[in-house]
This record gives sequence, C-alpha cells and structure tokens, in this order.
Amino acid sequence: MVKQTGTAKLSFGDTDLELPMYSPTMGPDVIDIGKLYAKGGVFTHDPGFTSTSSCESAITFIDGDKGELLYRGYPIEQLAEKSHYLEVCYLLLYGELPNAEELENFENRVTRHTMVHEQLTVFFSGYRRDAHPMATMVGVVGALSAFYHDSLDINDYQQREIAAVRMIAKVPTIAAMAYKYSIGQPFVYPKNALDYASNFLYMCFSVPAEEYEVNPILARAMDRIFTLHADHEQNASTSTVRLAGSSQANPFACIAAGIACLWGPAHGGANQAALEMLKEIGSVDRIPEYVARAKDKNDPFRLMGFGHRVYKNFDPRAKVMKESADEVLELLGIENNPTLQVAKELERIALEDEYFIEKKLYPNVDFYSGIILEAMGFPTSMFTPIFALSRTVGWISQWKEMLGDPALKIGRPRQLYTGEPRRDYVDVENR
Ligand code: CMC
Repeated sequence: MVKQTGTAKLSFGDTDLELPMYSPTMGPDVIDIGKLYAKGGVFTHDPGFTSTSSCESAITFIDGDKGELLYRGYPIEQLAEKSHYLEVCYLLLYGELPNAEELENFENRVTRHTMVHEQLTVFFSGYRRDAHPMATMVGVVGALSAFYHDSLDINDYQQREIAAVRMIAKVPTIAAMAYKYSIGQPFVYPKNALDYASNFLYMCFSVPAEEYEVNPILARAMDRIFTLHADHEQNASTSTVRLAGSSQANPFACIAAGIACLWGPAHGGANQAALEMLKEIGSVDRIPEYVARAKDKNDPFRLMGFGHRVYKNFDPRAKVMKESADEVLELLGIENNPTLQVAKELERIALEDEYFIEKKLYPNVDFYSGIILEAMGFPTSMFTPIFALSRTVGWISQWKEMLGDPALKIGRPRQLYTGEPRRDYVDVENR
C-alpha cells in the first residue's frame, strides 16, 4: 500500500474531516475517500469517474496533457519502434523487460497454447454467418471457462499464470476463427513456426488449398498495432474486467466482459466507426459538411476517431499509427488511397478549427488504424476484434495485479438516488 503523504480537509455542515492523501510516482495526488461515508455519512458523486482513481496500479501511465503513454515506465514510441508485442506482453505482465532466456521461454509458452480445444469449434456453428465477430468473440472467449478447468482457481498463482498465457495465446486463434466463420472458409490451425503477428495473419488469410506466405512488412505493422493497443490503464473495458474480477469470477469470464465493453463505438468500436465515417465522407470536398455536423449541438454526429477522455494534447499512439499507415500504404503501392487522403485533410481542417482546439480534440489511436487494417485485407467488422486481441494482455495484467492486491474488495459503487421515496403498493383496481 502506498504511504500517506498529506492530508486533505473537507468541511460540510457541522462536519470537519481530515482525509489521507497519497502521491503517485507520476500524476496528480490522490485523496482517499474510502472512510468518508463511515466518518461523514456522505458519498461522493462522479459519474463517468472523471476525477476518481479506482485502484492502485503500477502497469501503465498516461499523461494526457503531455500526450505521453508509458508501459511500466517505457514510452510507447520506443516500444513500438524497438520492441515487439510478445516482449511487451512480458513487460506488462511481469513488470520488467525479459532477458533473452526469459523471452524465449515466454514465447515458447505462448506459442504452445495457441490451439483451442477442438470442441470449441462447434460453438461457432451456433452463430449466424453474418454475426458480428465481436458477438462471436464475447461468447466463445466466455466459453473457454467451460474447457480449461485447470486454470479456473483464481487463488492459485500457477493457475492464474496458465490462464494468462492461455488467453494471450488463444484469443488471436478465436478472432481468426470468427473471421473465417463469417466468410464461410475453413478454420486455419495456428502454425508454431511463425511469430505471433505472422501467425494471426496466416490464420486469417491462408486457405488449405494454397501455400501462403506472410508479408514480413505487414506482419511488422500488425505487431505494432498489437503493441499500441496492449494496455491503456483504467479505461472502460479494463475497469469492466477489474469489476468483474473483483467478485472472484473466473479469468475467462472476466475477459469476455471486457470484450463486451470494448465493442461500443465510444471505445474499441470507434476504429470500425472511424473508417466507415471516412468512407461515407468519401472525398475531400465533403469534409466541411461533416465538420459542421460534428460541431452542431443538435446533431448527434461526432467525428469518430477524435477526442479522448484523458489525452488533451495528442494521442501518442495516433502519431505512430499515422506513420505506420503511410509506410504500409506506400509499401503496398496504394499511397494515393482516397480514404487516407480524406483522413489527413480532415485531421488538418479539424486541428485548425476553433471548436476542436478549444475542446482539445485530437485524432486518437482509432483514426488511422482502420486504414492500415483495411489495406491488409481486413473487413471493418474485424477491426474491433483485433483491438480486443491486442488488449487481452492489458486486461489480464490488470486482473492479475488486482488479485495480488491485499486491499482488494468487491467493486460496489454507491448512487445518488433520485427515484420515488417509499410508498405503499396500490391494488390494480385502485390505480
Ligand atoms: N466530435 C465532436 N465533438 C466531440 C467529440 C468528437 N469526436 N468528442 C468530444 N466532443 C465534444 C463533446 O460534444 C463535448 O462538447 P460540450 O462540452 O460542448 O458538451 C466535449 O467535446 C467533451 O466531450 P465528452 O463526450 O464530454 O468527453 P468524454 O471524455 O466523455 O468522451 C470520447 C471521450 C472518446 C468518448 C469522445 O471524445 C468521443 O465520443 N469520441 C468519438 C469516439 C472515439 O473516437 N472513441 C475512441 C476513443 S480512443 C480508443 C479507446 O479508448 O477505445
């Protein structure tokens, strides 16, 4: 538990309270209100948790004003350039970069768990072929708890370890199966000779009838997308995983809850929504019309891929993603891609517009990722599943950290009740 570094004074009515304060390694100080109700008989009210820290965590740090994202202290830009996804997974899970032997062992463990129980394949046929792959993933990932009984005991460290590795290894296989099912092609088994990103591309794009060689440049871009999405501290889906896990639910059920939350267009679903929006805009001359709509209070339309609860300067992931989009499209010889042109021009116009400047709205990670994923051959419906598979390591790292925290309590927010006061039941004939 972090040490007390100060005291906050709170006065209301006849009550004067002193509340402990803590100083984090980085970021604003925190006032501990855990005893507020017991001592003062009041709750705090913070819908959307805009000023509330829900846990102590040593995994990821975001400085929204500086536009900085650190995994275990390492800047995301350095990791995206110099590291790779499985090394980042190790870092997030265990807190330090692995040495060569630790990395090799970890990669072997993940690689040996990429296949799923054969019975699990039957689950897919219960879905309509046109089901959104996120719908399939919520169900099938949740179903893992019915297959891996030897990693359900959350109080056993070894079982938690196996569950973590299984999840990181199997979620790409499930995402690829969801895709194959949606296009009516046979499932492709994982290939252990391939690295993590190449294996995912192989499971998505190869068919049994032909040899398939993974393009190393696309594999590198895929790996970078995984790395950029790997964790993002206490966002909505991670908080969902923690809340589900706080009841001691099993790890597979908790990750399925995270996937469900991620699906929404305000969160992970924004990558699909952003590309669909760019396509709907279609050409540079139509941009002003959409910018005007985004600014109109009476129009619910928002620029998808713009804005963030925490980043108020720029999203560092978006910067790397934009460079990656340029690189991938150039390598594929499609640098005149009209969607990329619309995206760049929309970004330029919005960033010069008073509305977006004043509200500190910048492109986020989802603004450019869809352009890369589409160029790789993924349909828009696969964008959010790819986000989900990348974020699985963040969810499981945060889940493991939470279970190791002696201060863990079941998550149970209070409320500001605005309903009817107590009243007596009225028989139907008297209503
Ligand atoms: N387009 C137009 N106006 C916007 C946008 C946008 N994309 N985002 C926020 N605003 C306005 C909003 O209308 C509000 O205006 P006012 O103060 O006049 O009422 C103000 O900016 C603050 O917005 P908010 O909704 O109160 O801010 P929030 O922190 O609750 O929401 C957000 C953050 C990401 C949900 C929001 O910016 C949004 O809906 N963006 C579009 C969806 C998106 O790209 N989501 C992906 C987020 S990054 C990936 C991830 O974390 O999953």
